[in-house]
Order: sequence, then C-alpha cells, then structure tokens
Amino acid sequence: MWPANLMRLLRPVLLLAALTGGAAFVSAQDGDGKAITIGFSQVGSESDWRTAFTEITLAEAERRGFNLIYSNADNSQENQIAALRSFVAQEVDAIVLAPVIETGWAPILREVQAAGIPVVIIDRNVTADESLYLARISSDFVFEGRLAAAWLAQATSGDCKIVELQGTVGSSAARDRQIGFAEVIALFPRMQIVVSQTADFRRSLGQDVMESILHTEDPTQICAVWSHNDDMAIGAIEAIKEAGMDPGDEILIVSVDAIPDIFLAMMNGDTNATVELSPYMAGPAFDAITAYLDGQSVPKWIPVKAGIYFPDTAAEEYARRKR
Ligand code: AHR
Repeated sequence: MWPANLMRLLRPVLLLAALTGGAAFVSAQDGDGKAITIGFSQVGSESDWRTAFTEITLAEAERRGFNLIYSNADNSQENQIAALRSFVAQEVDAIVLAPVIETGWAPILREVQAAGIPVVIIDRNVTADESLYLARISSDFVFEGRLAAAWLAQATSGDCKIVELQGTVGSSAARDRQIGFAEVIALFPRMQIVVSQTADFRRSLGQDVMESILHTEDPTQICAVWSHNDDMAIGAIEAIKEAGMDPGDEILIVSVDAIPDIFLAMMNGDTNATVELSPYMAGPAFDAITAYLDGQSVPKWIPVKAGIYFPDTAAEEYARRKR
C-alpha cells in the first residue's frame, strides 16, 4: 500500500484560464499556494530520442506551471540515486525517475517512500516491487522487438543472418527488445543472430562497433542489422558505407525510436524500418501525479503505444517530427 503523505501535500489547486482572463494557462499549486515541485532524474543525453524526451518533459512541466528540478545522470545509476536523495532533501512533491538500468533501486525507493514522496517510473523499467512506486509510464519494449523481427522475417522470407546492436547493458529497453526480437526469429529456422554487441545506444559507438564487426565477419553474409535504437543504426549506416556497401539494400536495417534523422536516412534509401518510441510520456506522468495528489487512484502501468514506419511515409514523418 502506498503511504500517502496527503497532510503535507494538500490537494493541488488548478487555476483555470477562465479565472485569469481567458489565457490557455493552467497552473498547479500545492496547499500553500506554491507551484508543485517535481524532481526529474533523467538517464542522460546518449541519443536524439533522449534529448527530445527531455525537451518535451521540460516544456510540459512549464506548460502546467510545475516547478521541475531537472537532473541529468550522465548514464550513471549512482548519480541518479544521489539526485533522488537531493530531491528528498528539497522536499519535492513528487519524483519522476527514468532509470538507466533495471536493478538496484529498491533501497533508494524505500527511502523516498519513507519520506512520503510518490515516484513515477518513466520510459525504462525497474525490477523493484511495484508497491515502491506510484505508477510506470512506458512502452512495451518486448513488443517493439517483436515488431522489428516480424517485419524482418517477412522482408527476408525468414532467411537472414543478423547483426544485433544492443542498447545499454542492464537497461530494460535493451533487455526486453532483445527478448522480443529473439522470440520471433526463433520461429524461423533460417533466421539467426550472428553477432550481438552493445553500443550503449550511442551513434558514435554504433559506428565503431559496426566497423569492427565488418572486419571480423564476412560482410557479404550479413543480411541485416537489428539496432536497439536509431542512433546506433545511423552509426552503423556510416560504417557500412565506409566498407563500400549499400545500407538499406545489401544490408537491411531495422531500429527503434523514429527520430527525425532516421527518416532522413530512409529518404536517402539507407534504412528500411523504424519502430516508434513516443517521447511524449511526461503528459501521462504528470497526470498520474496530479491525480494522486488529488486523492484519485492511478493505474500501475500506463502503456505508450508503438507503431512501425517505412520509407513510403518517411518524408511526411520527417516534416512532422523535425525540430
Ligand atoms: O529507453 C529508451 C531508449 O533510450 C531509446 O530507445 C534510446 O534511444 C535511448 O537512449
């Protein structure tokens, strides 16, 4: 049972625009008339998707009149734990945690819970007992992996030697995408992962790792790259081009995120498919927090939907998403 600290946090007061002259501004305040303060511990800035997710979260907090304390952990769980302790010391009203890795969260979540502060887990998952957090907002990463593999199976008639570029080791995004993809290709006896290496969700590492794979493997035997994110795929595309091969044709590419740059690569014929990970998770996270502070119940898991995109709509998707 979540120990509510509603004595300290009285119901948030929503000041609707109509009361302040008709502007479309909504401000959320605590019982003392102060803006609701939320501590946001972000993974880092390893990918374009992550940067977009941060910008969207900061903008959404501002739009709602929240005071958001933002902490970039630079991909370190230690930094995230320190940030959470600092949020507790600052007596924030709630915490949004985008965890870098899955394990090791229970002790700090217990500390935060003892301080009566609700935590929303966003994007990646944690293995801690779900009573330790209010809600989780995330995509189904296993489903994303299945979707990517299903597309590749039909594109290759179930016959393909695959290079897998994994995301950050220990992150639920990498682990679950790997599991979902493996489940589907196991149904096709001639689909096989020949090499699987991490490039930490980073574009430059994607290029380095792919370069070395193209030296150690026979490139003509590689049918596809399955990359846990678009940035690593873009790095791999560069490496494939440098090796004198044609990405998107001689070596198929499928990845996850649907960032603007991957649609540019599709428009150039360099990649074949991307599974979307929506960066718009702050809205549901903040809704969950305000609902909780308002005394309402909140579902434990609020899923974000995934779809898959191909070159036929790349130009319009690029125009829609570019910043
Ligand atoms: O956790 C989601 C993953 O993290 C994104 O797919 C990747 O780009 C990011 O770094």
